[in-house]
Amino acid sequence: MYCAEENRYDGRMQYKKCGNSGVYLPRVALGLWHNFGSVDPYENQRALIHKAFDSGITLFDLANNYGPVYGSAEENFGRIMEQDMRPYRDEMIIASKAGYDMWPGPYGNGGSRKYLMASLDQSLKRMKLDYVDIFYHHRPDPDTPLEETMGALSDIVRQGKALYVGISNYSAEQTKAAAEILKKNGTPLLIHQPKYSMLNRWVEDGLLDTLEEAGAGSICFSPLAQGMLTDRYVNGIPADSRAAREHFLKSNSITPEFLEKIKKLSEVAAERGQTLAQMALSWVLRGDRVTTVLIGASKVSQIDDNVKIIGHLDFSEEELQRIECILAE
Ligand SMILES: NC(=O)c1ccc[n+]([C@@H]2O[C@H](COP(=O)([O-])OP(=O)(O)OC[C@H]3O[C@@H](n4cnc5c(N)ncnc54)[C@H](OP(=O)(O)O)[C@@H]3O)[C@@H](O)[C@H]2O)c1
Repeated sequence: MYCAEENRYDGRMQYKKCGNSGVYLPRVALGLWHNFGSVDPYENQRALIHKAFDSGITLFDLANNYGPVYGSAEENFGRIMEQDMRPYRDEMIIASKAGYDMWPGPYGNGGSRKYLMASLDQSLKRMKLDYVDIFYHHRPDPDTPLEETMGALSDIVRQGKALYVGISNYSAEQTKAAAEILKKNGTPLLIHQPKYSMLNRWVEDGLLDTLEEAGAGSICFSPLAQGMLTDRYVNGIPADSRAAREHFLKSNSITPEFLEKIKKLSEVAAERGQTLAQMALSWVLRGDRVTTVLIGASKVSQIDDNVKIIGHLDFSEEELQRIECILAE
C-alpha cells in the first residue's frame, strides 16, 4: 500500500499563486503525455506518480487522447487513483483537456460544445473522478465560434465537473479574446498551457504580457524540449529514449551541431552547480513570470533530478548572456 512521504511539504517544493486566482500551483508539475499509455509498464507509472507526489508535486496533467492508445493514460491514472491516491485527492490538482482528435465522426475533435461536454464525461469515467480541477480546451478551433467553446468551459464549471478553466496553444490575440468571454461568463481564465523552452520562445512575443493583463497564470509544456535539453543524447540515442521511439521526437533532430550546443550549455549548467535539465527548467521559471514548468519523465530518477531546481531559479546577467550567445550560434 502506498503511503505518501510525510515531509512532502517541508519546502522541497515551492508553490506559486496562479495568476489572480487563489490557488497555488507547484513550480514543477508532472504530465502524462508519454510513458503512461497501455504500451508502458504500469508499475513504473505508479512509481512516477508516487515519486512526484512525495516530492511535493501536486499537479498532474492529462488529456483525453494521451496514451497510446487514446484514453489509456487517463485509464491508468484512474487505476492509480483507486489503488493509491484516493486519500490524497484533496491535495491534488488534476487536469484534463479536449481539443485534438479523440473519437471517429464529427463530434470527437475540435471545439464544439458537443465534443467538450462528452469528452469530459468520458475522461471523468476513465480517471474515476467526480471532477477535474482544471479543464482545458487543448487547441484553438477556427471552425467553432469562440463564444461556443468558452461557453462550454464555463458551463462545465457550473455543472461542478471542473473547478477552473484553461486554454492551451492559443495565440496572444486568441487568449485575449477568450479571457474576455470567460470573464463575462463569470468563470475567469485560470491558466494557459503553452510550449516554452530555450528552443521555442514564442511566448516571449506577447503571450506572457497578455496573460499578466488577463490575470491568468501559465504552465509551460516541454520545457526540456522532450529531452533534448538534457544529457539524454550526449552519447548517442539510448534504446529506451523518446527519440528512439520516433514518436513526436525525431532522432534526426539530434544533430552534431545541436550536440555541440548542448555541450556548451552543460558547461554553464555545471558552473551553476546544476545538470543541464535543471538549468533548462530554472531558465523557464527565471524572472518569476511563468507559474509552473510541466515536465515529463520516464524514470523516477528524472523527477528526482528535476525537482532539485527549487531554490536555484535565479540567474546572473552574465549567465543569461552566455546562454543567449550559445542559443544564437
Ligand atoms: N498542451 C499541449 O498541447 C501539450 C503538448 C505536449 C505536452 N504537453 C504536456 O506537457 C507534459 C510534458 O511534456 P514533455 O514530456 O514533452 O516534457 P519535457 O520535460 O520537455 O520532456 C520529458 C522527457 O525528457 C526526458 N527527461 C526528463 N527529465 C530528464 C532528466 N532530468 N534527465 C534526462 N532526461 C530527462 C525524458 O525523456 P525519455 O522519455 O527519453 O527518458 C522525458 O520523457 C506532457 O506530459 C503533457 O502533460 C502538453
